[in-house]
Amino acid sequence: MTQPATPSRPEIDFNRLISQRAGAIDVSGIRRAFELGGQLDNPINLSIGQPDFPVPEAIKRSAIEAIEKNRNGYTLTRGAPELLDSVAGRLRTDVGWDLSSDGIMHMITSGTSGALLLAYLAVLNPGDEVIIPDPYFVVYPAIGEMVGAKTVYCETYPDFRMTAERIEALITDRTKMVLINSPGNPTGVVLSSQELQDILELCRKHGILLVSDEIYDAFTYEESLEDGRFPTPARFGQDMLLVRGFGKTYGCTGWRMGYAAGPSTLIQQMMKLQQYTFVCAPSMAQVGLAGAFEVDLGEHIRTYQSRRDRVAEAFGDVTDLVQPGGAFYAFVKVPARLGVSSEEFFMRAINRNVIVIPGHVFSRRDTHFRLSYATPDEQLDRGLAILRELMVG
Ligand SMILES: Cc1ncc(COP(=O)(O)O)c(C=O)c1O
Repeated sequence: MTQPATPSRPEIDFNRLISQRAGAIDVSGIRRAFELGGQLDNPINLSIGQPDFPVPEAIKRSAIEAIEKNRNGYTLTRGAPELLDSVAGRLRTDVGWDLSSDGIMHMITSGTSGALLLAYLAVLNPGDEVIIPDPYFVVYPAIGEMVGAKTVYCETYPDFRMTAERIEALITDRTKMVLINSPGNPTGVVLSSQELQDILELCRKHGILLVSDEIYDAFTYEESLEDGRFPTPARFGQDMLLVRGFGKTYGCTGWRMGYAAGPSTLIQQMMKLQQYTFVCAPSMAQVGLAGAFEVDLGEHIRTYQSRRDRVAEAFGDVTDLVQPGGAFYAFVKVPARLGVSSEEFFMRAINRNVIVIPGHVFSRRDTHFRLSYATPDEQLDRGLAILRELMVG
């Protein structure tokens, strides 16, 4: 038998076919950080945005069992019943929402990003405005671009608090959505209940949707808890979309699991859009996570809190550091006396085998860098010592 000829290489000019929406999204900052990092030999990697602990054994077992019990087909678009029940229970005890009542609903999504994309698609027409924090999680402006919405940046420097006062100044008659993120990526800042209540009331007054991205809710450190609980606007009303995830909390970011809860009118539209895009969240992951809220993460949280303390100790006297109250990031100012951009500082760190992410990836400013302390103590300590040396200059 003769071998078939090798298929010809692509000849069409595919650049010409790429949509403006795809072309407008720039990933070069992050890509560069990863590419440069990839060239290093055994680097100290302080750039990773996911927990460094494995998925708890009980959750692993339950996902494996789900596969073995043939829970591998599509689930309902809204989600597998056992996980929907478990999320409803969680939200009842945590924020006091009764999801069996009229007017509000919840759904399981393909990651927190999936929930955010569906919310943008359901609410924003081309030209509508969405207010997001600056610094921000990189997905926020990108999905705005995808739906043709205008992203309005709420400057939160130097304390990284997205307050009602800062938001109000940005509201126009095109504003339809305000997106907040506490604990925040890349800053780790946790807003107080009072600040969150003020934001919810502001949105209510203007008839705007508040979306609260609470993906790091589990990683809220002691001093930022109120009555032992993570502060959320959801305790003050249901005119909002609450978005949470499982990936960061249980170390299963690759399972692509999140959920959203809010007004039924909105969730119904998001479900319709999910049906024609993601279809459903991964079935075995949904079943696997049905018991997740019973898993005690206390030890991991304490570990992260103690690492956060090491970061504060390492940098406290060499730069302005806004102490992170949650998540596992610090957004650290490059000392002004060095006279360099975050990009230049990032290159200096790379030259010492340490990977962080330059601040311009998360912001329109270029003055800080993001460090993730979701990394083993020994590596973190070596990285902090090198970064400190670079900052002292
Ligand atoms: C603030 C924030 N929201 C959402 C996400 C996306 O999470 P998921 O992996 O669940 O889509 C991330 C991931 O880094 C994040 O930092």
